[in-house]
Amino acid sequence: MDLHILDHRLRVTSISKSGLERFTHPLIKLIFLRNRTRCKFFSLTETPENFTLVLDEEGFKELQPSEHLQVESSTWLPLNVVSNGNVSSSSQAVGVTKIAKSVIAPLAQQHVSVFMLSTYQTDFILVREKDLSVVVSTLKEEFSIYQEVKGESVPVRCQDVTNGLQKNGKEGPTVHPVLIPQNQFCVMSLDPDTLPSIATTLIDVLFYSSRFPSDLLFTSSSGELWRMVRIGGQPLGFDECGIVAQISQPLADSDISAYYISTFSFDHALVSFHQAATPVHSRRNSFTLTTG
Ligand code: ARG
Repeated sequence: MDLHILDHRLRVTSISKSGLERFTHPLIKLIFLRNRTRCKFFSLTETPENFTLVLDEEGFKELQPSEHLQVESSTWLPLNVVSNGNVSSSSQAVGVTKIAKSVIAPLAQQHVSVFMLSTYQTDFILVREKDLSVVVSTLKEEFSIYQEVKGESVPVRCQDVTNGLQKNGKEGPTVHPVLIPQNQFCVMSLDPDTLPSIATTLIDVLFYSSRFPSDLLFTSSSGELWRMVRIGGQPLGFDECGIVAQISQPLADSDISAYYISTFSFDHALVSFHQAATPVHSRRNSFTLTTG
């Protein structure tokens, strides 16, 4: 298995609900007019609390400082696992489940805080730039590690990373309350070239309405539906580690597919609707369950 350190330096930001209209111009540019910016990594997640924007430094330059914009102070690097085909796995699971044991658990053990962004196609594991040496020394046994530099993948050698490893702390992880809303989610991907044809719909969803049109919703090929588990009662912050690990481990043990999306305030696991029939919370009786 290969691990790629992608050539993007990312910032994690949030825009308040009421501040969205001040950012219309940069958002239109970043989402729809891709050739007008040099931004190459962009992610937007709307939650009831706020909008989370994760974007590279080029994209970040488009955002004017504002009381409505919160910015996490670190630079984050996205990691991406690429299986090179010769791994015969019995697991059909997708998303964070696939990398729970090989990436998420070892990083949590080394106290590395991650920020997860699952997509239809792949899972980005964001780590702080300052943690990179610990990340490399933690994962070098399991993976061939490549750093992408100007479009080329350069193998990472691991000489200068010896003093990075930390001692495991004694305290167990904090158990955060979870919330399982009734909504069902659909995970899709689309060819960027088709973006213009649904631009007006997306502009409507983003700036004017809170509902995703159902005709668009059901064009997904598999039609599979997902339920969400939101993790966190209070905003989670960015320094705590092991949150993704404690959710993804039990799912991986049962081979249950899950996408995992971190946002500025909370984490979200999307769990396959059918598989979720065995409720996730029943695996940990210390979870607080609130159904909304
Ligand atoms: N840092 C957490 C972990 O290592 C995940 C991110 C939680 N924070 C957040 N703002 N979503 O498990």
